[in-house]
Amino acid sequence: MDVAILEALSAEVRELARERDAVIFAHNYQRAEVQAIADVVGDSLELARRAAAAEASVIVLAGVRFMAETAKILAPAKTVLIPRTDAGCPMADMITGEQLAAWKAEYPGVPVVMYVNSSAEVKVLTDVCCTSANAVEVVRSLGSPKVLFGPDRNLGTWIASKLPEVEMILWDGYCPTHDRVTLEQVEDARRQHPGAPVIAHPECRPEITAAADAVLSTSQMLRWSAASDAEEIIVVTESGLLTGLEKAAPGKRFVGLAPAMLCPNMKMTRLDHVRDALRDMSGEIVVPAEVADAARGSLERMTAIG
Ligand code: 13P
Ligand code: SF4
Repeated sequence: MDVAILEALSAEVRELARERDAVIFAHNYQRAEVQAIADVVGDSLELARRAAAAEASVIVLAGVRFMAETAKILAPAKTVLIPRTDAGCPMADMITGEQLAAWKAEYPGVPVVMYVNSSAEVKVLTDVCCTSANAVEVVRSLGSPKVLFGPDRNLGTWIASKLPEVEMILWDGYCPTHDRVTLEQVEDARRQHPGAPVIAHPECRPEITAAADAVLSTSQMLRWSAASDAEEIIVVTESGLLTGLEKAAPGKRFVGLAPAMLCPNMKMTRLDHVRDALRDMSGEIVVPAEVADAARGSLERMTAIG
């Protein structure tokens, strides 16, 4: 986009946010120009915590639907807008409330931990949600020998590797963007950048997380990279994080995989969509009060851990 147009549009968005008493939240995978105008850029856990503590009347959530639903459930008095109502998370759609109810019935008394990448209906049936930033601590906090975990089998397998004392019973969901990464891609990157550490998201398959030097949520990657002595780092997560990494650790080189890892849903939101949502107050997230009230406990327990 032409620099003058970008600047004018960014200024328009900020002015509308002021007029509407709105805060703009962006996930770490959002386009650079959307991250640039956001009040808060973060991982799923940070966005959930900031939503719960928000003072503004309106929260614009530049991300995917489960993030906006989470914000609405944690801040029910706020108006929550999602600039692209069609930005979903395919993994979140891999388990429905009905499917979870049937699964639970097979394991009476076994606690349920669900990745925050899930629908509000699924959260109603969940004891505690987690994000990639606190998943191990959440499961450990239950002190249960057995846990039902979904929808991400890769995150579940990674938690199991950290907590061998817990039997993790896993739903068979996955993130299409992270699950398709191959060991060959990672080894190629290592060959081309000898000595560079590999940081990977726990949504990657077990052979990838086992081969990585660190397994981290997106914001943990930002902090890890800023604190690392390495001059070059291989990053195995959605390529939108490269924007934040370059800002968090200026002077370091960040290498993504080839081909680049992209989440089409995270890339849907453009600056003009954020402008339109604020101008028209469109894309409001509605979670029926009885669903939100029943789902809130699982999210509040999540935000309290880690
Ligand atoms: P985090 O940013 O919480 O690590 O999660 C990544 C993700 O799946 C967002 O969709
Ligand atoms: Fe869902 Fe994966 Fe996209 Fe995250 S990166 S929103 S888990 S599809």
